[in-house]
Amino acid sequence: MSEQSLFERIGGREAVEAVVGSFYEAVAGEMSLRVLYPEDLTPSREKLEYFFEQWLGGEPRYSERYGHPRLRRRHFPFVIAEHHAQLWLKHMRSALELQQIEREDFDSIWGRLESLANHMVNAHEEVPREPLPEDAWLT
Ligand code: HEM
Repeated sequence: MSEQSLFERIGGREAVEAVVGSFYEAVAGEMSLRVLYPEDLTPSREKLEYFFEQWLGGEPRYSERYGHPRLRRRHFPFVIAEHHAQLWLKHMRSALELQQIEREDFDSIWGRLESLANHMVNAHEEVPREPLPEDAWLT
């Protein structure tokens, strides 16, 4: 029997859609995060769903459409400070907690997310801030 991926174990697309949906509902009400995002959150939601599926061991839907994730690079146009990362993590944790995820899987997802979110902090760095095209393909 082949081993299930983390993506499958937590409930596949349905679970990822639920997590990302709850997360963006929270973002919509969190002003200091909301101002960073575009007016229409639908494309942002879809991108995060595709990314999570891939990142949790599902199909590489994000890279098929956008190329290499290069998440830090893709976040350069947004000035992200520590407090943004903390808020992002707070809302993502609440969104994940709404799902039935085994403790061990939860902890492993959480550990990786915390370091990824802290890695996005760029407020005190000189990085290119020009917006990237919405569907930028990066290699
Ligand atoms: C640390 C705090 C973070 C803030 C404030 C933040 C904010 C943003 C903003 C404003 C966008 C642009 C939305 C759009 O293009 O539609 C974005 C895009 C994105 N974020 Fe974050 N983000 C953070 C952390 C993360 C983390 C930890 C992940 C992954 C686990 C992530 C994954 C993504 C993805 C996949 C996109 C779409 C990139 C693209 O294809 O353009 N973000 N984020």
